[in-house]
Amino acid sequence: MAHEWHVGFLFLFLELVAVRSLHLNLIHKYSIRFPLFPGNLTEYERVRRLYASDVARAQLLRTSLLGVDHGIEHIRPNLKGDPFNYMVEIYIGTPTRRKNYLVMDTASDILWMQCKPCIRCWKQSKPIFHPVKESSSFDPIRCNHTLCDLGRPGWKCVKGHCHYSIGYGDGSSSKGILAFETLGFASDRHQKEFVRNFIFGCANDNRDPAMTKEQSGVFGLNMEPLSLARQLLELIGGRFSYCLPPFKSNKQPLSRLKFGDEAILRGPQVRTIRIIHAPTLITYFLPLSNVSVAGHRLGFKSKDFAIHKNDHGNVRGGFIIDSGTSFTAFMSGGPYERIIETFKAYFEPFKLRPTNSELFEVCYVLPHEGFKETLPSMTLHFSGGVDYPVPPNNVVVKLGVNKLCVAIRSFPEASILGEHNQFNYHFSYNIKEKLLSFAPADCSRVV
Ligand SMILES: *[C@@H]1O[C@H](CO)[C@@H](O)[C@H](O)[C@H]1NC(C)=O
Ligand SMILES: *[C@@H]1O[C@H](CO)[C@@H](O)[C@H](O)[C@H]1NC(C)=O
Ligand SMILES: *[C@@H]1O[C@H](CO)[C@@H](O)[C@H](O)[C@H]1NC(C)=O
Repeated sequence: MAHEWHVGFLFLFLELVAVRSLHLNLIHKYSIRFPLFPGNLTEYERVRRLYASDVARAQLLRTSLLGVDHGIEHIRPNLKGDPFNYMVEIYIGTPTRRKNYLVMDTASDILWMQCKPCIRCWKQSKPIFHPVKESSSFDPIRCNHTLCDLGRPGWKCVKGHCHYSIGYGDGSSSKGILAFETLGFASDRHQKEFVRNFIFGCANDNRDPAMTKEQSGVFGLNMEPLSLARQLLELIGGRFSYCLPPFKSNKQPLSRLKFGDEAILRGPQVRTIRIIHAPTLITYFLPLSNVSVAGHRLGFKSKDFAIHKNDHGNVRGGFIIDSGTSFTAFMSGGPYERIIETFKAYFEPFKLRPTNSELFEVCYVLPHEGFKETLPSMTLHFSGGVDYPVPPNNVVVKLGVNKLCVAIRSFPEASILGEHNQFNYHFSYNIKEKLLSFAPADCSRVV
């Protein structure tokens, strides 16, 4: 098997030696490009739905990432929603190469997809991948493969095959076997490129996942060994990038998840920070040290955003950049309250009429269109003196005709940089060096 794997790897290398970059289309779930496009949502309805999916996402992050003090069985989400926003278009199998939409998740490792024969699968609008019937490149891995981690909860060796299991925070789970397969990407050579012997999760027992019928699975992109970024580490130089256009209308411009040379950022505006990584941290934690609101630095102490363990040994605190959370959240019991108070103090002199929102704490009636010029910015200060300015347009969200809200939520366990505050920045991850680079960009023009 080791020999076979080696040959497979060599094959992968030979075939792709001329390709320096691979990319995949990245599609927002409320984009007209997504087959399940929900129609023309009003601004309010879109924000409300995104907020609801954040609640589901928070539940998922809370358990799968930060650990909980009690068993997963006891946790039910308040609100069921789809906790993922961006879908990756990918092809799988030989010769099927059917297009699949997988949800991008920077907080998990395995790329898994529904697979027949199903014990339990959610209803898909496209036929579920049936590798044994449809694909000659499907090849289950043996339990002695280094990526078969039988130490993980629920993982088993059955008849020499590696059975994986992933439990999500909302009580859902995915189980199946790990197998080699061929994945199809677009590339800088303007033709599809195929990556052979990629290890994916062939998921045939999926309980209650918050998926829609157009989604076939999850595209794990964290720094753990099974994630796509790690399996293709040498081929892509450990790099991937994305640039999310602001969500102005339902006609969301196309964006791409890029790998390899194409993912490198260049230019005078590029800033680089360290990614904090440790065995217990399964997603991208960033070294946030301070926050400014409208140019006023709040004076946080290093403990305010420090990662620590609580009495039960679970990870708490820190600042995560997340692919599935829409709105930025700050940890409650300190950072959130201080930041929110500072925004209130900023608006105080304008004597605006406060208005209620079921979603955000700070909302006002917009006095006139011109007032938009007066909105506050927010700056995230990272250690090493690197600043990340969030422009006013991304700090606030317009709800309905004349209602403005500061689009910041509270979260009990950690602080999170959500997509709304990632818009119009190009992000480039280098997981080999554990660095994250970013630069302002007009993401509707970055393809
Ligand atoms: C794994 O197990 C298979 C079958 O049991 C065997 O042929 C192979 O040599 C083993 N590989 C390693 C790396 O031990
Ligand atoms: C959405 O609105 C645009 C114009 O505002 C219209 O052209 C389009 O057909 C609408 N789409 C749907 C699905 O309602
Ligand atoms: C945050 O900024 C304040 C004001 O400039 C400063 O006193 C404080 O030391 C900073 N905190 C950290 C963790 O750098």
